[in-house]
Amino acid sequence: MMKRSLIVLLTVFSLVANAQSKIDPDSIKTKMQWFADAKLGIFIHAGIYSVDGIDESWSFHNKKISYADYMKQLNGFTLKNYHPEAWADLIQESGARYSVITTKHHDGVAMYDTKMNDMSIVKKTPAKRDMVAPFFAALRKRHIKCGAYFSLIDWGYPDYPGFLKDSSRYRISDDPERWNRFRHFFQGQIEEINQKFKPDLYWFDGDWEHSAEEWEAQKVRNIILSTNPNAIINGRLQGYGDYETPEQNFPVTRPKFKWWELCMTSNDNWGFHHDNNWKTPYEVISIFADVVSHGGNLLLDMGPKEDGTIPAEQIHILKELGAWNKRNGEGIFNTIGGLPLGHFYGPTTLSKDSTTLYLFVEGSSGGNLMIKGLLNKIKDITVLGNNTKLSYKIVGKISWSPVPGLVYINVPQRALDKYIAVLRLRLDSPVKLYQGQGGLK
Ligand code: GLC
Repeated sequence: MMKRSLIVLLTVFSLVANAQSKIDPDSIKTKMQWFADAKLGIFIHAGIYSVDGIDESWSFHNKKISYADYMKQLNGFTLKNYHPEAWADLIQESGARYSVITTKHHDGVAMYDTKMNDMSIVKKTPAKRDMVAPFFAALRKRHIKCGAYFSLIDWGYPDYPGFLKDSSRYRISDDPERWNRFRHFFQGQIEEINQKFKPDLYWFDGDWEHSAEEWEAQKVRNIILSTNPNAIINGRLQGYGDYETPEQNFPVTRPKFKWWELCMTSNDNWGFHHDNNWKTPYEVISIFADVVSHGGNLLLDMGPKEDGTIPAEQIHILKELGAWNKRNGEGIFNTIGGLPLGHFYGPTTLSKDSTTLYLFVEGSSGGNLMIKGLLNKIKDITVLGNNTKLSYKIVGKISWSPVPGLVYINVPQRALDKYIAVLRLRLDSPVKLYQGQGGLK
């Protein structure tokens, strides 16, 4: 596990700088706009691992269970209560603007009707159906963008070098023909996915096992973009993706990437698991506000059960998040990242023209808030969701000094949200900040 986290971390921090240098910046900016505005996506890890509720793919790779026993889960994957329309309703209710579903995880079991081999839930499980097509259809009816997660790693495929931890089937240099057979296979699946589903976004995973040359990352990108030119590709394609994907790790300072997305579980696992360490709605909302404040998106994961039902705790999180977005979404959607650290002790966002500043305030705090270094005049302050108007006081403004005073805002307890309140400050002009060291300079 240590090794895996290290690899993931290294991958996370080394990718996109690389990726963005190889790609035409203007065309990419246009196609990334919906993503930049979307802020919230729902990730879905659906797979046979939900039958026993064990780690997705990693459980056999890490030898927690034998491969044979892992694959027995095929017999228990039924989807008998799978209602893609209800899933899409829930996702819409959460406020999410896109959703990403596993089309194939590292175990190699396709969640759609692949013609490239027989290893799919359509051919090998009692479900006997494609999960992806009806889900995308339901999302599209609701104008929610469709993302396809695809694992480049395929430990289940006999021509893939990797299989169990600390061992491999062969070395590419010893048998390049065998590797070519695998390449033909996985690239064929990407072509299929491209043609069948026309995803708005590709979410590759597992690129760390091979180099860009080995995967033929440029070719993979071309396969997608030649017929689906507006597709967005995540950063896990060895330098050929469009945006960065820190995983489960929360940036403390603002990431330097232009586009990024934090992918995060709602308990501690991606797939359905016997794990009750659920994040609370408050925790998810505060993380969401923090991510958006730093200019990123949150891709919040759900792990449905083998029959297609979604755990009640996850439904609760999504509904609470949705209700919060209804009250406060103005401060989230279509905004840009907020003030640099130091001006306000909490998350902030700005309208795209930077004339409106949104402050995110803990439900339990109340009392006085303070903003430092704001050079603008504030026209008015409103609490989103209940339209309470607030007054403010400027403290410590010295007439002869260019340093602005502190803005103190008193927020009465009754105006606060049960999770996090959002204050809208309309400014006289685009935000201007003083960032000096006080009277010294
Ligand atoms: C990691 C894991 C994988 C999981 C993914 C989600 O890369 O290998 O199991 O699906 O993260 O971000």
